[in-house]
Amino acid sequence: IEEGGEKLRSIICCIMGHVDSGKTKLLDCIRGTNVQEGEAGGITQQIGATYFPAKNIRERTRELKADAKLKVPGLLVIDTPGHESFTNLRSRGSSLCDLAILVVDITHGLQPQTIESLNLLRMRNTEFIIALNKVDRLYGWKTCKNAPIVKAMKQQNKDVINEFNLRLKKIINEFQEQGLNTELYYKNKDMGETFSIVPTSAISGEGVPDLLLWLVQWAQKTMVEKLTYVDEVQCTVLEVKVIEGHGTTIDVVLVNGELHEGEQIVVCGLQGPIVTTIRALLTPHPMKELRVKGTYLHHKEIKAAQGIKITAQGLEHAIAGTSLHVVGPDDDIEAMKESAMED
Ligand code: GTP
Ligand code: MG
Ligand code: NA
Repeated sequence: IEEGGEKLRSIICCIMGHVDSGKTKLLDCIRGTNVQEGEAGGITQQIGATYFPAKNIRERTRELKADAKLKVPGLLVIDTPGHESFTNLRSRGSSLCDLAILVVDITHGLQPQTIESLNLLRMRNTEFIIALNKVDRLYGWKTCKNAPIVKAMKQQNKDVINEFNLRLKKIINEFQEQGLNTELYYKNKDMGETFSIVPTSAISGEGVPDLLLWLVQWAQKTMVEKLTYVDEVQCTVLEVKVIEGHGTTIDVVLVNGELHEGEQIVVCGLQGPIVTTIRALLTPHPMKELRVKGTYLHHKEIKAAQGIKITAQGLEHAIAGTSLHVVGPDDDIEAMKESAMED
């Protein structure tokens, strides 16, 4: 995992878009899980995180026969809610990521939270790819399970292709109205200026290999500096929650650096700074969702980038969205408490 002698950390990618455009389902498709069906009302209400090791991405993109040489250890995907009432969670998710997937439902085109998400990404100059999802809903679509999209398109009859092209054209126009040039990713000769569109189905998996390959290739090509691992801990609290048997825990995204069991940490709390000691560092298994209760892997130490559940005493009033600080041997704890509360 070397690039010019520098070690790279995993890529952090955020998935955003209007409610029910298929964000969680797309992740289910990659994970081989059923998280979406377990959600209350089918609505995501928390930020999630899933780690995809490089070897799984390699397998999933093999058919594209591209140079999927992975220099990063993996990909950490942050799932966000699309419901209009969760703007703060979308903002928190998008603030953490290196790049993003913007999901658009091909049967609906751009919707209010598509545009809101788009503006959040533009505000932060975050590169993104558009997943034009639910292509299997085009009348007469022939399923080509998990196929690269060009291969799947070749299997479709004229009527399907016509309908696809009509809808695509309409959606490209809608993006244009937002001041954004977009084009099918395999026709996009102007990457960087024109945003790429990958047609996908979260149900039958067409286009999913393309989506994964683009993410990894784009990140490795344009973000080596950003992805270069640094020791200094950069860590954000995603969610604060009570877990049976663990008490109040915090789900965090470790963007850089390393965390250790037994380490003293400072987090921002409702009633002042919280100084505590990491009791356990837990992660779900690879390809499993952090926000879904399951069995956890215990770690003595853990390197970025990762989604981690931390158990410790006194986390009841921790505030999601703030930074976690690690107390080093030479650190002035009073100064750290102050800086933790500045979030
Ligand atoms: P929120 O997180 O609540 O904003 O929604 P979401 O964007 O995560 O969408 P979700 O994964 O919950 O999917 C919404 C509905 O669309 C579910 O009933 C899915 O089964 C369905 N769906 C998602 N993707 C596809 C797809 O590619 N094809 C078809 N036919 N249905 C899909
Ligand atoms: Mg969802
Ligand atoms: Na949903």
